[in-house]
Amino acid sequence: MRARVTPGGTVGGEARVPGDKSIAHRWLLMAATAEGRSHIDGLPRSLDIASTAACLSQLVPPARPALDAWGSSPSVTDERHGSTWNRDAATLDLETLDLRGEGRRSLLRPERGLDCGNSGTTMRLLAGLVSSSPFDTVLEGDPSLSTRPMERVAAPLRAMGADVTTSEGHPPLTVRGSALRGIRFEPEVPSAQVKGAVLMAGLAAEGPTTVTEPVATRDHTERLFRALGAPIRARGSDVVLEGPFQHKGFRGAIPGDPSSAAFLLGAAALTGGNLTISGVGLNPTRLRVLDVLGRMGLEVEVEVEGEELGEPVGTMRLGPRGTLRPVHVDRNELPLVIDEVPVLAVIAAHADGPSRFEGAGELRVKESDRLSVLAAGIRAMGGEAAEEGDDLVVGGGGLGGGTAEPAGDHRMAMALTVTALAARAPVEIDAVESASVSFPGFFELLRSLGADVEVSG
Ligand code: S3P
Repeated sequence: MRARVTPGGTVGGEARVPGDKSIAHRWLLMAATAEGRSHIDGLPRSLDIASTAACLSQLVPPARPALDAWGSSPSVTDERHGSTWNRDAATLDLETLDLRGEGRRSLLRPERGLDCGNSGTTMRLLAGLVSSSPFDTVLEGDPSLSTRPMERVAAPLRAMGADVTTSEGHPPLTVRGSALRGIRFEPEVPSAQVKGAVLMAGLAAEGPTTVTEPVATRDHTERLFRALGAPIRARGSDVVLEGPFQHKGFRGAIPGDPSSAAFLLGAAALTGGNLTISGVGLNPTRLRVLDVLGRMGLEVEVEVEGEELGEPVGTMRLGPRGTLRPVHVDRNELPLVIDEVPVLAVIAAHADGPSRFEGAGELRVKESDRLSVLAAGIRAMGGEAAEEGDDLVVGGGGLGGGTAEPAGDHRMAMALTVTALAARAPVEIDAVESASVSFPGFFELLRSLGADVEVSG
């Protein structure tokens, strides 16, 4: 499917965004391994979440009917870019899951390899979950996921006692679970997925599992474990979990995804609209993007109105703004906006000077090489952007028009669309169906908020 963006519309009004993908993966894993019934509202119909549900349904046969409503096997492929998406799941009209779990020990040997599709979070968190199960689990991914680094998760799980093999550091991953012991672990690369995997394993391990984070990453795993009564505490830059612990079933509604909200904020900011987003997650470890927007002259007010299983939820409001200023994101801050660099960079393309995103090498091992895809996309629309080592430099000054290529990557499809809204001429964006990986309904919502975007093909 191709998007044609005609600049000139104003994006504004009131919106909600689909449930948070990071939170949804974790809640699904914990519901499937709880003792007793869980009820989850607000599950996003995102394709990555369908992948997690499909994998869990292979491991938790009694929960299969409920989970299968969510995850069927990926069925649509972008052959040029090697991404596989489950288009059928995107049309599901379900946001609620009721599941009866029988505890972590009830996981069963899957009949075939688990297909994690395009989702790195699915693969890494599941590796942690099955590392205590006494059988082989094979975790596979689409060609895009199959190029991503997995040794970072395999190594600590091995240290805990599991037998994990990778294919030269990449998927497929074979995890032969075993009795685990807690470890003290300091990741080389700040990663919430790796921390989450180690803590998932730590729940079934004997003794304390400690993860030391030089840079604090999103803490959804810790918040959920705490809300479920697990003995987990933060001590300086350490997170300490005393295993083993078996949790009970739970109820909760997943807050809207702040990373998805950032695309809408970008669209409104670039087109001069006033936007309010309600029911959105306001976890402080996800909001550094708002600081960066503030430095660019885009104030976003937040109001916490409630909490779901330890996750603050509320409203974001884009305030009045003046000239769009360039920004410098340094290497210490970068992990805190890892998923928002795409939208920040495309906003920066319209600032009145050059911006720099420093030490952004991790973006090269996401669903695409986001540094090069972003730079090429901005240039394809007549802007200035360059990769300088692992820095991304975006020239500012606005965009002309043209044709841009998101390389099968959901955040690229959305970022390129957002920046095109403020270009000086129409822009065509190729293969945009990947947006449903994290934000089903993105184009329809953007249109309903005032954007002139047509999707066809
Ligand atoms: C995620 C962590 C981040 C992020 C991804 C979701 C998570 O990845 O980019 O979209 O849910 O834990 P890393 O842990 O690899 O930085």
